[in-house]
Amino acid sequence: MRLTISLRFSHFFVLLLSATLSNGNDSELLTSVIDLVEFDYTDNCADRASATWDALIGSPKGFQTKLERDKEYKTFVKQNLEDLKTITRHSWTQTDDLLKRKVHLLLQPGDVLLDSDQWIRLVTFADKAQNKVRFATNYDCGSRTCALREFHNSFAKKQYKAVLKKMKQSWESNLPDINEYVEQILPILGNASKDYKTVEEYWDSLVEYEGAIQKARELWEGVKPLYVKLHKYVALSLLGDKGVGGNLPVHLLRSLNGDDWSNVIDSLLPKHPAVYRKVTANLQIKNLGGENAFKAAANLIKELNLGEIKPEIWQISVFNSSCPPVLVDYCKPNKMKVVTCKDVSIGNYLDAHETAMKIAFKQLTASYSNNTFILREAPRYSAIYEAIPGFLSLLALSPHALARNDLFNIELFNRNSNHHRMVLQLILALRDLAKLNFYLAADEWRLKVLTGNTPSSKTAASWSEFRRNFSQLETLDTDLLGDSYVQFNKPFIGKFMGLILKYQIYHSFAEELESDDSDLIKHIAEHSNRLSDVMSQGFSIKWPELVRDLLFKKQNGLEYTGLIDYYRLLEKYLDDQFDPVINNGISYK
Ligand SMILES: *[C@@H]1O[C@H](CO)[C@@H](O)[C@H](O)[C@H]1NC(C)=O
Ligand SMILES: *[C@@H]1O[C@H](CO)[C@@H](O)[C@H](O)[C@H]1NC(C)=O
Ligand SMILES: *[C@@H]1O[C@H](CO)[C@@H](O)[C@H](O)[C@H]1NC(C)=O
Repeated sequence: MRLTISLRFSHFFVLLLSATLSNGNDSELLTSVIDLVEFDYTDNCADRASATWDALIGSPKGFQTKLERDKEYKTFVKQNLEDLKTITRHSWTQTDDLLKRKVHLLLQPGDVLLDSDQWIRLVTFADKAQNKVRFATNYDCGSRTCALREFHNSFAKKQYKAVLKKMKQSWESNLPDINEYVEQILPILGNASKDYKTVEEYWDSLVEYEGAIQKARELWEGVKPLYVKLHKYVALSLLGDKGVGGNLPVHLLRSLNGDDWSNVIDSLLPKHPAVYRKVTANLQIKNLGGENAFKAAANLIKELNLGEIKPEIWQISVFNSSCPPVLVDYCKPNKMKVVTCKDVSIGNYLDAHETAMKIAFKQLTASYSNNTFILREAPRYSAIYEAIPGFLSLLALSPHALARNDLFNIELFNRNSNHHRMVLQLILALRDLAKLNFYLAADEWRLKVLTGNTPSSKTAASWSEFRRNFSQLETLDTDLLGDSYVQFNKPFIGKFMGLILKYQIYHSFAEELESDDSDLIKHIAEHSNRLSDVMSQGFSIKWPELVRDLLFKKQNGLEYTGLIDYYRLLEKYLDDQFDPVINNGISYK
């Protein structure tokens, strides 16, 4: 009920203020109105977060309440929009830039502008889909049925093709219906973007980057040769010569939709994989999963001078659920919680670092009082908000960070540093190159379906075909429906660009080191203001305008070269595997 009361309360004031504004130009009054509207938004966000939390941890009625809150959100936004429009009609021209920015973000909230029935259809579909995957207990764990957490663990380790396939099928059976998605959900995007020429243009506007998808295509062309080499190597290792150049079935990669290949790393390791073995073993010995992984991440963040995460956040978080971590943000500065699993793996360790950095990012943004609600929580897809947390996961596997956590000795590392670095690059490439490809594939496929070049009778079966051509992966038509961005019709483009950008950030610091063996962590800590200055801006400026500062003026925009440079040792290794001279005229390794 609180929701309705506060809503009416501010609505009343808006009307009152609006009446006094009839001859316009008073930006102080406009500021007061925005303040009231943001106050309402903050309250609403806390209510929705609390319902989201209850649904995530499976509280009784949690799911129902979340669904109701998500549906009501439309009404809430509509009311506020009407108020804002009433007021901005008067005093729009005279306002300062920051105020203009706030009004713009508030007036352009994205998909929630849809008609009520379409909005309700969208959130119902997505909420239901998520809840089903999360709480189903009919997953196939090989010899018996299990819940999601156990399913993930089991699927990551199984060896036999047939078992993996059967297990994946049990997951598929919990996904929503592809026909419903293609006929009822995806086309809603056409209506959400009705103020734009195309859906692509609409997505570009949400990511605040003109020609974003086009830029992503260009960036991908630069990354693709490396992706192809990695793909060839994986195929060779898993299937032998006959696999090279063919399509890889994603279940053989022990992946549900092909967006992460790291579960097969054991089959891909080069000779002398000491760094991988040691790090994996030490993570287990030190039990660096769940809360411990998050605490290790918080230590690294502190060491980098990027802020302190209060330990209370871990106390109220839940670490006995399933991975990957979900961050719930109550939009009151510093109230956030995580729900995740306690299982130990390199992937979970890296995810914990990314999520912890998102917390530190939000804390830092919120610590500047100018960053009111909409400048912290704008409905936009910022690549910087993806890149800086992603950068932290790169650092988590850097030699000096590994040494700080006693995961791998630095002297040992430096004795054969190029080889160890190459192994670490392999670990990261299996995550990041697979993700980069998946993100662009999913966006491109959805755009393609929406522009109607595919006959509708074939649409439902077209994802697997698209994925074969674009990614050389053998998937099912439904398996992208397990992703929440797909369920909610959200673009991946911000995540794609964030992945590219994080390697540029890495490069901008790494190239300043005296030698490759110098302590990168210490160097970043000494120049951490380059990162915190950008984070402190929140959404007050469009993220592309901050890239230059973020990269210390070394580059002005997105370039794939940072990524390629990061992986140069891995690329050399991959080339060698297919070099007939090195391999004595015998093909392959
Ligand atoms: C798009 O909007 C129009 C008009 O409101 C409606 O008739 C149509 O069903 C909507 N499309 C979808 C996919 O909901
Ligand atoms: C998980 O931990 C919470 C306390 O943090 C506890 O209330 C709950 O019962 C636990 N759930 C499971 C499945 O162990
Ligand atoms: C807040 O904004 C005002 C003017 O817009 C500016 O003068 C001030 O420096 C800003 N404060 C911070 C902490 O950024």
